[in-house]
Amino acid sequence: MTGVGADGIPAARATDGLPWWQKAVVYQIYPRSFCDTDGDGVGDLAGIVRHLDHLSWLGVDALWLSPFYRSPMADFGYDVSDYCDVDPLFGTLADFDHLVAEAHARDLKVIVDWVPNHSSDAHPWFVAARSSRDDPHRDWYRWRDDRSDAAGGSGPPGSPGRVPNNWRAAFKGVGGDDYPPAWTYDERTAQWYLHLFLPEQPDLNWDHPGLRAAMIDTLRFWMARGVDGFRVDVTHGLGKDPALPDLPLALADIPISGLNDDPRTHPLLAELRSVLDDWPDPPERMMVGEVFLPATSQSLDYYGAPERPELHLSFNFPPLLAPWDAAAWRAQIDEVQELFGPRGAWPSWVLSNHDQPRHRTRYGSEARARAAAVLLLGLAGTPFLYAGEELGLEDAVVPPESRVDPGGRDGCRAPIPWDGTSTHGWAMSDTPWLPWPPDADAGRTATELRADPSSILWLYRHLLRARRDSPALASGTFSWVPSTPPPSSEDQALVWQRVHRIDVDGGDVESVDVRVVAVNFGSTSAEIHLPPGRWQVEVSSLVPDGSPREGTPQLEGSWVLAADEAVVLRPLTP
Ligand code: NOJ
Repeated sequence: MTGVGADGIPAARATDGLPWWQKAVVYQIYPRSFCDTDGDGVGDLAGIVRHLDHLSWLGVDALWLSPFYRSPMADFGYDVSDYCDVDPLFGTLADFDHLVAEAHARDLKVIVDWVPNHSSDAHPWFVAARSSRDDPHRDWYRWRDDRSDAAGGSGPPGSPGRVPNNWRAAFKGVGGDDYPPAWTYDERTAQWYLHLFLPEQPDLNWDHPGLRAAMIDTLRFWMARGVDGFRVDVTHGLGKDPALPDLPLALADIPISGLNDDPRTHPLLAELRSVLDDWPDPPERMMVGEVFLPATSQSLDYYGAPERPELHLSFNFPPLLAPWDAAAWRAQIDEVQELFGPRGAWPSWVLSNHDQPRHRTRYGSEARARAAAVLLLGLAGTPFLYAGEELGLEDAVVPPESRVDPGGRDGCRAPIPWDGTSTHGWAMSDTPWLPWPPDADAGRTATELRADPSSILWLYRHLLRARRDSPALASGTFSWVPSTPPPSSEDQALVWQRVHRIDVDGGDVESVDVRVVAVNFGSTSAEIHLPPGRWQVEVSSLVPDGSPREGTPQLEGSWVLAADEAVVLRPLTP
């Protein structure tokens, strides 16, 4: 099953009939920040094509592109004014087709972001909808009258005392202190419209059959252009209680986008899923949903049931928000194991994205970011990487006067530094749209890290190759390695085993593949207990190529992980 590449790294894939999205490692690209080729300081589609070879070399399997559609950019592309075109800032539809062709030529799948909860207020649908209460598009959005006196409203029409309900929108705005109401008054038609995010992002009304059909057409548009799947923005926002009732007061300060979990979303998702499943051309088209809700069990609900599937994958954000702590992570992993297995749902794992501080910044050191890479790529489920984590990037420091994002997320969106030149491989004449991340001028660039085999970039590469080459890591079962004494909340290391077995008729085992993954979350060394047998280091976060540390060519019984060290171990074959 394994071949060996020129660099000595096994090059073959673990193939065992699983759908591609279960075996894949997905790499998220935020197009604005990836690479600029036309000199305006903003990344573009041609910049993505330019670095596809880097991604092939790295060893990821699929790309998720954050929005590149036409947009006034109030929320940097998550405010879409044309779902079926590329914003000129990023290029053209021809550029997109070229990107898909080039990605597919490298065996990279392409997943595009799809933003169905809201459009831009500049979308022709909304422009029409707000033109008159009688416009045919009016009910493609959610409009309400002033809150009446009987319902506790007070003040002149359109004044704050008349806001239809107590829901809050998601963003405080640059320099703002409070979450604003999720409603904006439209003077001309004297009604309020709902927006879970900015006023420039009016919520679409998925109860309207015309809107549903139009949005489904946009899915078909992109499938016809060859995309392999969709990342569904604010999945949990689609269905809403049509009464749009007030939240209980205890929850009323929390943005409704973090709470809305209405059962009406599920039949909508099942309908979307059937659109993907009915698409005639292989391969299977995939939907991964952003379900930004506080509980893992809530994200699980959006997979649907075997007889009526919804999402293929759902982002589970509680682990991303967990601290770098063994007990906290053990609890997160246990919850996924206990809940997902019985439901037949395939988990996903993610540590960073364009909405949260990078995990390198949250966890506080490169050593921990390296250990976290082993954790992420050693878990059972589909991992999602965020561009730049393979470089160990930290968030940029963005001074208050330079902030541009109404949600305060500028730091994690800093441009990717590709090389050690003054413009770091970006073609801009001036400065990029956000400052460079720390250390971009001190060697933390793709080219420079690639020249250093001990770098975090090589660690990611070795981990991705190890995962690709090992059926156990790619899709094997998960079980904790029992420790002696049993695990306690004092333990600072977690050790688990991944096993992949192929049985033949009659119950004989045809082949077994096994890996052990161990992560020391502590800043002191930690003793771990290994499963029976002899083991060797395949990848260590400290020594990426796995060269056994002095004196440990073969491991048996117990072993001591260094501070912040995480490893993948494979059975030692005689
Ligand atoms: C979630 C996206 O990830 C985020 O960037 C965006 O601001 C909101 N949804 C609204 O679309």
